[in-house]
Amino acid sequence: MDSESEIADFPIGVPGNVPPRLESAGIEIELEMPLSLYHPIVLLCGETAGGEASYLMSVEPRTATFEYPLRSRTPEIWASGALRDPLALLSDHAYLEKKAALNAMELLNRWPDPACAREWSICLAAIADDEASHLNSVMKILTKRGGCLDRNHRNPYASALRDLVRRGQANRELLDRLLVAALIEVRSCERFEVLSRYCLGEGKDAELGRFFQRLGASERGHFNIFLKLAAFAVAPSEVDTRWNEMLDLEAEILAAQPLGSRIHSGLASDNGGARA
Ligand SMILES: [Fe+2]
Ligand SMILES: [Fe+2]
Repeated sequence: MDSESEIADFPIGVPGNVPPRLESAGIEIELEMPLSLYHPIVLLCGETAGGEASYLMSVEPRTATFEYPLRSRTPEIWASGALRDPLALLSDHAYLEKKAALNAMELLNRWPDPACAREWSICLAAIADDEASHLNSVMKILTKRGGCLDRNHRNPYASALRDLVRRGQANRELLDRLLVAALIEVRSCERFEVLSRYCLGEGKDAELGRFFQRLGASERGHFNIFLKLAAFAVAPSEVDTRWNEMLDLEAEILAAQPLGSRIHSGLASDNGGARA
């Protein structure tokens, strides 16, 4: 089987579809990883006579409960403060999506081993596509509400996380970059969930509530993928050790952030966040 043309022909976007040529060839299909829950995609691995090949397909969203690995949890009160200036929050959010798309594209050809090059680049191209779509969605809501991007945007939370990357250390640098991406995804997912609950409840903003709900599910899928990709860079035990270190540091970095209408803003000084 020509695996490259199989991917090019693959009917991405058709829920639950299995490529007919794979079925007819009697190839065993194994669900490997959820890639995105906003545009639900899973990576499939098919065993061929010439070795293993990977394919993408779309499936229905998963509904399983998600356990956040985060060391601190955002209290509900944070949402009302962050939404004091919704346009500033949406502008910050737009930059977050832009940076996420750029980061996925930047990592696109940085696979640690040629053996995983196809799987690696397919995953990151799909994430970049998701993030660009998120950016477009945020921009539509922001402009519909009369807002505009703030050209002087800064994200001290993400900057502090990127400072943790061990630059010049080959696969360890790559590992850190993937884990920083995973941290930003999972914290964003948690913040979107808190915002969504508030907007759908006392905030009475159903449009924003549903929007944050949808994006939270997608970022959760990306978080899973970045962690999976980290296992290509170093041994699983090293991923675990560094991941645990970074989870601790992330909670400290977040707690040190100033208050404000930003996705990764800090918490009120008198609550300090609830340690998990
Ligand atoms: Fe996103
Ligand atoms: Fe994401």
